[in-house]
This record gives sequence, C-alpha cells and structure tokens, in this order.
Amino acid sequence: MTAPVPANAKAIEAAAFALREGRLVAFPTETVYGVGADATSDAAVARLYAAKARPSFNPLIAHVAAVDDARKIAHFTDTADRLAQRFWPGPLTLVLPRTPECGVSLLASAGLDTVAVRVPAHDVARALIRAAGRPIVAPSANISGKLSPTTAADVANELSDKVAMILDAGPCRIGVESTVLDLSREKAALLRPGGIAAEEIAALIGPLEDAAEGDPIRSPGQLMSHYAPGLLVRLNAIDVGAEEALLAFGGSVPAGAAATLNLSPKGDLVEAAANLFAYLRRLDRPDFTRIAVMPIPNMGLGLAINDRLERAAAPR
Ligand code: TXA
Ligand code: MG
Repeated sequence: MTAPVPANAKAIEAAAFALREGRLVAFPTETVYGVGADATSDAAVARLYAAKARPSFNPLIAHVAAVDDARKIAHFTDTADRLAQRFWPGPLTLVLPRTPECGVSLLASAGLDTVAVRVPAHDVARALIRAAGRPIVAPSANISGKLSPTTAADVANELSDKVAMILDAGPCRIGVESTVLDLSREKAALLRPGGIAAEEIAALIGPLEDAAEGDPIRSPGQLMSHYAPGLLVRLNAIDVGAEEALLAFGGSVPAGAAATLNLSPKGDLVEAAANLFAYLRRLDRPDFTRIAVMPIPNMGLGLAINDRLERAAAPR
C-alpha cells in the first residue's frame, strides 16, 4: 500500500526515477490528480491501462513541461501556436498530428496518428516531468468509471496498491479536467469541456465545432475506429493460411503463416497490450492477404485488447 508523501524536491526526484523505471506515479496537476507513466514506453503505458482497468484503450494526454517540448511530439498549426501562447501552462489539451519523431507510445495514442498534449500549470507536475526528462502520460488518477480525484487521499483510496508513489500537494485548484480541443482537422472541435471555457477559446480562434452535438465522427470514441489496418482482420484464428500474417498470443502457435508476431509468448495480457498497436502496424503490409489474430482471453487488459481488435475487424 502506497501512502501519499509531501511533494518536496526529494520526493519529486524519487518519483521521476520511478517513472524512468517504467513504474506509475500519482501527482497533482491544477485540474485533478493524474496517474503518470513514461509516455515513451509501451510497457509502462500498458501497466497504466491495467491499473486504471480501462475497458478500452481511450487515448491518453502526454504532459510536457514546456511548449518547446510539445513541439517535438506534435505538429503545431498557427491556431495551436496562438492557443499555446495564451493558455499554457494551463488546463487546455490540444489534439494534433504526431510528428515523425514523436516518440510517444502508439498504445498511448490508441493507434491514432494524433497525440493529445498539454503543459500543466502546477509546479509539482512540471518539476516531475522535467526531472523525468520525457513526456508523461497521465489520465485522472481514478479507477475507470469513478470520479476524478482532487486530493491525494482520494487517489490513495483507489490506487494505493497500483502506484509506486503518490505525491501530495494539497487539493487541486481547478477540480475539473482540462478542456480537450481537436486541432487535427480543418475545423477546431471541442472534444471535452473542461477547465478553460469554450467561449474563451472561441474568442481567440473563432467558432468551434461541438463534437458531442455536431459531427459524431470527431468524438474520441468514434475516432478510435478511425485507425484500422489496411488489411482485413480475421479474429479468433486457431489455424492460419500461407498468405496470412499471424498476430499470435501465448505458447502454442499454429505454423505456416507468411509472417508471425507474438503479442506475448508467455500469455501475459499486459505485455500483449504493450505490443498491440506496434505489431498491428508491422503486419499491415500488402504482401499479405489478411491479418489473422489468435484468441485473446477476455479478462483484465484482454477486454481492451479485444475491444480494439473488434474495431479493427469491423466491416468497412
Ligand atoms: O485535466 C486533465 O486533462 C487530466 C490531468 C491529469 O491532466 N487528465 C485527464 O486525462 O483527464 P484522461 O485520460 O482522463 O482524459 C483524456 C481525454 C479523453 O477524453 C480522451 O479521449 C482524450 O483526452 N484524448 C486523448 N488523446 C486523444 C486523441 N489523440 N484524439 C482524441 N481525443 C483524445
Ligand atoms: Mg478521466
């Protein structure tokens, strides 16, 4: 059981070390407490999804300490520049195209070619990210479906057995999550209302599309089905054809595929989640007729893996 510790310089240094080792750390932001993981590590991000018990891979926000760090992972438009200048550090998250050198785990982006990024306005959060020396993904530090925590005690109630450290800096100033704005398409769209009022944003950049009421294709849930492999996907494969690529799982793998990648030879669902999007992309080549996927147990992170695979296999 991990108890909250005061977020002094020594604790922040220890927390940054834990993050670099791939462990999870809860920390305060100005909006809510987040549970952070090394954004560049597929394995750390998979452990984060497991700790949150997310039923699907809802994409995560990459937190950076400064605007220049955001530019390394996301492609900034003029609109993004103006918003960043005005509202960062602060409770605004921008969804932008990933840069080629992005480095943020594909699992954190849920396989999308966009990345959500923000610079938090909390000294502890920025000091931690700077000390870790890399972007940190951090969803709200609650079990999926529960309320977002605004004190370290709230975090301890739900996640004390899942995190290496809980940094305590008192209650969060804002108490609601950041506003999420999608700038990856022609028109800016509000994906989630939050700490910065939509009116304030519109006053700076003009009217927004409301993803909830307007074009449903832009809401995050829908966006998740946006990325599907070019190849057809065949689920629950127990055998494989000579022209198929096989996405395998576990110890007994059918022979004869044109290519095989095993999500986890030892049958570990967290390891499988870490490899899912990267392996799907590697097998998605015109040399094959189809991607056959072995059955994945429908428990723990297997639920999220199967959710994503079903979307990838959905008729189009
Ligand atoms: O205030 C906050 O934003 C807090 C603190 C800890 O920073 N974090 C937070 O993260 O609320 P989370 O994971 O609970 O919410 C992330 C939101 C989700 O609605 C998700 O769908 C959206 O951001 N999101 C992330 N990446 C996205 C992407 N590439 N495209 C569309 N939506 C994305
Ligand atoms: Mg949340």
